[in-house]
Amino acid sequence: THQWRGIIEEYRDRLPVTDGAAVITLREGGTPLVPAQVLSERTGCEVHLKVEGANPTGSFKDRGMTMAITRAAEEGAKAVICASTGNTSASAAAYAVRAGMVCAVLVPQGKIALGKMGQALVHGAKILQVEGNFDDCLTLARSLSDNYPVALVNSVNPVRIEGQKTAAFEIVDALGDAPDIHVLPVGNAGNITAYWKGYTEYAANGPAGRTPRMWGFQASGSAPIVRGEVVKDPHTVATAIRIGNPASWQFALDARDESGGFIDEVTDRQILSAYRLLAAQEGVFVEPASAASVAGLLKAVDEGKVDPGQRIVCTVTGNGLKDPEWATAGAPQPSVVPVDAAVAARRLGLADA
Ligand code: F0G
Repeated sequence: THQWRGIIEEYRDRLPVTDGAAVITLREGGTPLVPAQVLSERTGCEVHLKVEGANPTGSFKDRGMTMAITRAAEEGAKAVICASTGNTSASAAAYAVRAGMVCAVLVPQGKIALGKMGQALVHGAKILQVEGNFDDCLTLARSLSDNYPVALVNSVNPVRIEGQKTAAFEIVDALGDAPDIHVLPVGNAGNITAYWKGYTEYAANGPAGRTPRMWGFQASGSAPIVRGEVVKDPHTVATAIRIGNPASWQFALDARDESGGFIDEVTDRQILSAYRLLAAQEGVFVEPASAASVAGLLKAVDEGKVDPGQRIVCTVTGNGLKDPEWATAGAPQPSVVPVDAAVAARRLGLADA
């Protein structure tokens, strides 16, 4: 019997991993690339969803974390630290368990989704809620890793980007070549950097014949790259991408310009509308930040930027179960019935009232 071995074993020849290194893995990657029927009809294109919520801790962060924790273990680290809007911390906490390390987590106070906090807690991380936003947490994490015996596993650590680039490899492996357009949410801008690195490597020295245009979308209240300036007090319902000063800002601009793409913004309303569309019409439950890619694609269609007939991949970065509040918000309580088939049938509309 065969099962996916995790991104390091599957793509070892394209990753900076030492031969003898003990690989710390939860068999991340190998995620579904799902044809999106409703989105394809709406856009006149062939749209696919790269469902990264299917990773072991429920987000794409696991691809980078298997690399970061494998490297940290090899270098003898006993403890790791990250700043996070939630998913990085959930992933770091889980992989640190596998490596027998202490995991320290810095999150913006009151601004991370419940499921993500639960993950960090249950995996035994040491969590501090910082009186500040993600950007403040990252500053603090950098300072702690510079001055204390703790390794930084944020995407400013280049091996994180190396791991995350494997998502682009998987897409090319599945489709036979790169798509025309790749769309994804942008927060700290590590992932757009990683996909672009993966696509360019696979085109220069691998099975891809070309690279896609990279389209990135930030939330309107947290759109420093679109504005061209740091956002001091970022806000958005998509807490995962509530970031005002992305660490990989310049790399994101490079990905945009070298690929002939663009980086734009979507409003919270557009994000939540795409979030509902994905769940109710494609059967794919994502967290709000993840829906920014699809919201962006639909915005681009409305603006006439999408020629029909193209092959488009949207990355949906995290699982909807991370942040279930948005699924239940405003929804009526399901009605309560006795154990009675006739009553239940009427309530379900299967029989006349
Ligand atoms: N989508 C989700 C679900 C995320 O958690 C993140 C980032 C992004 C998109 C944006 O990716 O930062 O590489 O541009 N989350 C980080 C975290 C910041 O701490 O979990 P990016």
